[in-house]
Amino acid sequence: RNQTANQGNLRKLYAYASDADKANLERQFAGIDWEELPAIIENYVLSRPKTDIPSDLSPAPFFPFPAKTPEQKELYSRATELGERMLREGKVACLTVAGGQGTRLGFDGPKGTYPITPVLGKTLFQYFAESIARVSEKHGRPLLWFVMCSELNYEATRSFFEKHGDFGLAKGQVNFFVQGTMPAIGLDGKLIAASKDSLALAPNGHGGTLLALRKSGCLDKMKNAGVECLSYFQVDNPLVPVADPLFLGLHALERSQMSSRMLPKTGPFEKLGNFCMTGGRLQIIEYSDMPTELAERKKADGTLDFLAGSPAIHVIDVAFIESLTADGRLSLPWHRADKKVPYLAPDGTIVKPESPNAVKVESFIFDALPLAERVMVLEGAREEIFGPTKNATGVDSAESCRAMLVARDIRRMRLAGMQAEDGAIVEISPRCVVDDADAIAYFKENPATPVAAGERKAFGK
Ligand code: UTP
Repeated sequence: RNQTANQGNLRKLYAYASDADKANLERQFAGIDWEELPAIIENYVLSRPKTDIPSDLSPAPFFPFPAKTPEQKELYSRATELGERMLREGKVACLTVAGGQGTRLGFDGPKGTYPITPVLGKTLFQYFAESIARVSEKHGRPLLWFVMCSELNYEATRSFFEKHGDFGLAKGQVNFFVQGTMPAIGLDGKLIAASKDSLALAPNGHGGTLLALRKSGCLDKMKNAGVECLSYFQVDNPLVPVADPLFLGLHALERSQMSSRMLPKTGPFEKLGNFCMTGGRLQIIEYSDMPTELAERKKADGTLDFLAGSPAIHVIDVAFIESLTADGRLSLPWHRADKKVPYLAPDGTIVKPESPNAVKVESFIFDALPLAERVMVLEGAREEIFGPTKNATGVDSAESCRAMLVARDIRRMRLAGMQAEDGAIVEISPRCVVDDADAIAYFKENPATPVAAGERKAFGK
């Protein structure tokens, strides 16, 4: 099979390997889709994929947030009630994608184990787990949580949860599943050996979620539990509401198969995917692919024409995933990224290249949007839902995310009539507070003394 994909170098690696190394290589070879590989090498490595930008792109419509008209207000309050009912009836589960390598953060270990909160240093996983516990408590029903890992971080992720007793969640409430991997492909079209017993492998992108849900049996588990839709978010965004009744309810009222939150972009080139319509379907065009002329185009009132950026927050119907993956396959388009991938040199040393030597291909979950017949996009308030932790410092970093968590908690304290000066460092436990109503109730029960600038204070259990 290696030969058909023109991978003679792998035969050599295998021929010289010890029995134990051979077993590992065989396991990795078995995980590769050799039928698809030659076309990927041809179309994404040896030639650069041309991104065809459709000529009929127009901005995607969205529901504004907050509601603007009395009709919208009425619709949103009906949607919120419905979303709450869906949570009470166990029709919703959370889905966190945590299979990425988190290279930009430069943190050793699964990204979810990164300490993010500003006072107590709770990890991203703990923050989500506590939010899920609180949402479960509010609706009188354990909210199931599905966490996607990759082969590369599955063991570490599981043992982290085990060590922490699943952060107090009920038995069986957290479920892990493993996404597929893709081999890194050298610029010459040959797969890369990372060591004597291993290829250089990388997770196949968050688009791998959908098929992995089916292959792992999680789809069946969801169906058996009566789960109808998934609240999807990324492991690096602790600001996200883990299950927002308005978003869930509007998804259901609109009979949408896949819905997305959108944020008004801060400028034409903000690094967010753009919500566009083409051929009557919703599609996200990556910021790097968006023609400058379209990115900069303005409406008569001076706002960006393509205003809607994607914070990667979705609601996805279980039935939609079922139908997409019905025959055990799902072809989403691949996206190419050139990377520096360490490799095993002929003299047996591992070389860390100075410049990109390989291509990694990934698929993206948002490429399922054009496959949906019914979709829905709802605006969100950035400071309430999106604080991505991509880098250690600077833009979209652990630092900026912490600052956003603090700002939100200060705002909630003030809303509840408490005093917190600008510059105070406060942290409210999501185990007690996941929304404004919770904050008001919590501080009514547990009034806080004023928090001065520079003072650090944590609230809640
Ligand atoms: P990113 O695209 O930010 O990638 O993933 P990353 O791997 O976390 O970080 P870098 O690019 O190496 O610095 C966005 C979200 O999608 C998940 C990530 O875990 C993160 O939650 N993801 C990404 C997967 O679950 N699987 C993948 O194959 C890729």
